[in-house]
Amino acid sequence: MSAQSRPALVTGGAGFIGSHLVDRLVQDGWRVRVLDDFSSGREENLAAVRSQVELLRGDVCDPDAVAKAVERVEVVFHLAAVASVPRSVGDPLGTDAINLGGTLRILDAARRAGARRVVFASTSAAYGESPELPKRESLPVDLASPYALQKHAAELLHGQQERERALQHQWQMAQLEAKERAHKDEVARQQREMEIRLAREQVADAPH
Ligand SMILES: NC(=O)c1ccc[n+]([C@@H]2O[C@H](COP(=O)([O-])OP(=O)(O)OC[C@H]3O[C@@H](n4cnc5c(N)ncnc54)[C@H](O)[C@@H]3O)[C@@H](O)[C@H]2O)c1
Repeated sequence: MSAQSRPALVTGGAGFIGSHLVDRLVQDGWRVRVLDDFSSGREENLAAVRSQVELLRGDVCDPDAVAKAVERVEVVFHLAAVASVPRSVGDPLGTDAINLGGTLRILDAARRAGARRVVFASTSAAYGESPELPKRESLPVDLASPYALQKHAAELLHGQQERERALQHQWQMAQLEAKERAHKDEVARQQREMEIRLAREQVADAPH
């Protein structure tokens, strides 16, 4: 990926993985915006790049915070989550609202804002206790915790929206091609008519 003038948004950018991603994006020349509620993330994690990053303190479940975060974004890396199996067991409803509901909100807002791509971090917890390494997406899904279920459902939602977006793009391209073909046909028709008219005029003007 190359540097862009439109920003990259990293939700959960003050967390463990997110802050490393932010460092790398800044290094690659991206304008970076972070949305984080600092529930487990720390501003110190961003110390090296703090002056170069637009930091928004907010919740991925808050429509206003999300609308502000996705303004004019080129790409969204959605990492904000309660990344904890024990917490999801202790509070399935609360964690579901963030891990699934928050993801849906980010996906929807990113699409409306015209983001070119949304990258979502799922989890290998979706493959249960399988000892197989490395984990592959072709492994059987085994949702042994609310966390695994929430993240896997969010991943499926993301995939479904990406397919829908691809279909919409194909439809728009097909419409553009049809318009272009119709325009070319019309130009060719007018050209033919003009040639016929000229030929008729030449015949009429010719000495009899
Ligand atoms: N660490 C791993 O081994 C691992 C493995 C697979 C997937 N993941 C996924 O990667 C992502 C990042 O994980 P991590 O290990 O860096 O966790 P982390 O807890 O360090 O980072 C999560 C970040 O999200 C923020 N956050 C939480 N709830 C929020 C909310 N409602 N609104 C805004 N921000 C919120 C936290 O403050 C934190 O900064 C998560 O989506 C997690 O499910 C992590």
